[in-house]
Amino acid sequence: MTSFTLFIGGVAAALLLRPVLGLIYAVIVAYAGGGKTLKSLGATPGSWAIVTGGSDGIGKEFATQIAQKHGLNVLLVARNKEKLDTVQRELSNSAKGDIKTHVLDFSKATPSDYARLKETILGLPGGVSVLINNVAVNHVSPVSFIDESIETIESIVQVNISAQLAVTRIIAPLLVSQKKGLILNIGSLAGIVPSGYLSVYSASKAFLRFWSNALAMELKPSNVHVEHIRAFFIVTAMSKIRKPTWLSPTPKAFVKAVLGRLGKNIDSAPYPSHAILMWAIDNIMGERFWIDQSNNMHIDIMKRVVKKKEREAAAAAGSRKKDI
Ligand SMILES: NC(=O)c1ccc[n+]([C@@H]2O[C@H](COP(=O)([O-])OP(=O)(O)OC[C@H]3O[C@@H](n4cnc5c(N)ncnc54)[C@H](OP(=O)(O)O)[C@@H]3O)[C@@H](O)[C@H]2O)c1
Repeated sequence: MTSFTLFIGGVAAALLLRPVLGLIYAVIVAYAGGGKTLKSLGATPGSWAIVTGGSDGIGKEFATQIAQKHGLNVLLVARNKEKLDTVQRELSNSAKGDIKTHVLDFSKATPSDYARLKETILGLPGGVSVLINNVAVNHVSPVSFIDESIETIESIVQVNISAQLAVTRIIAPLLVSQKKGLILNIGSLAGIVPSGYLSVYSASKAFLRFWSNALAMELKPSNVHVEHIRAFFIVTAMSKIRKPTWLSPTPKAFVKAVLGRLGKNIDSAPYPSHAILMWAIDNIMGERFWIDQSNNMHIDIMKRVVKKKEREAAAAAGSRKKDI
């Protein structure tokens, strides 16, 4: 064998080996625990965690695990009073600390609504140490931008962008003055891969990721840890995924992974299968491929939604005929 053949063989082996070793490393890192504790990130027992969108899905689960296992008081912020009251009742029995609620519809929030929220937060005895910017709204189902209603577009911008800024603008100065604290921003795969037919939601989550990473750098010297969480598929009302799978965990499993792996990075995918998918997106086929996959998946969902609506309309027309 000539040294040239050996050289080419060596380069080919290195090119093949690199992604394999990268995948092995990604799997090991994904399944290894070892994050920092909430306490070491500034969340002292007796202080408060604020969870936006805390009445359902992932936000409710953050509130539950933080209240039950980490001994913090929790303020839940969401729009539906009945749901908030129910969660408060459920949690009050098992929480180590206090549970309070604050009703606010972020899609319609005015400066005086944010002033009222600030008053509630400043009145919490023991101070605030954690903010979980979890609230978000999505398109009801995939839809082209030009067919989406102006109301939905405005609601996504208000909730997914304006509310994140307004709530953080209230809480970040408190954390900075304490020189400790934690801000978690719950992102999405749609904020990493531009997602056709969910374009406004996708762009709002890309905004969140950029802003979160920039804010993390600004607040680091004040010992405030800001982390953007890459959440992909989770069983909740928003995702309409009903059964958990390897790739789509329950909120309980997802939040446990997040709280167990905090503080290692300012932009992380703490759930193991999501971290492996993230590795694939970064290393296989290139961005264009993943943009196409996302686009095709949403076109497919859109077609199925249209067919379902047609079936329902036909069934309704049939039952009207019978009645006549
Ligand atoms: N589920 C997934 O697969 C997935 C994937 C990637 C990222 N995420 C992200 O994870 C986060 C939580 O999503 P989720 O799936 O848990 O959603 P969800 O089950 O729909 O829960 C949303 C929460 O936000 C509240 N909320 C909605 N609109 C509001 C408004 N206008 N004002 C105040 N509160 C409002 C809801 O409260 P009310 O009941 O009072 O309306 C509820 O508590 C979001 O940031 C989402 O983008 C989720």
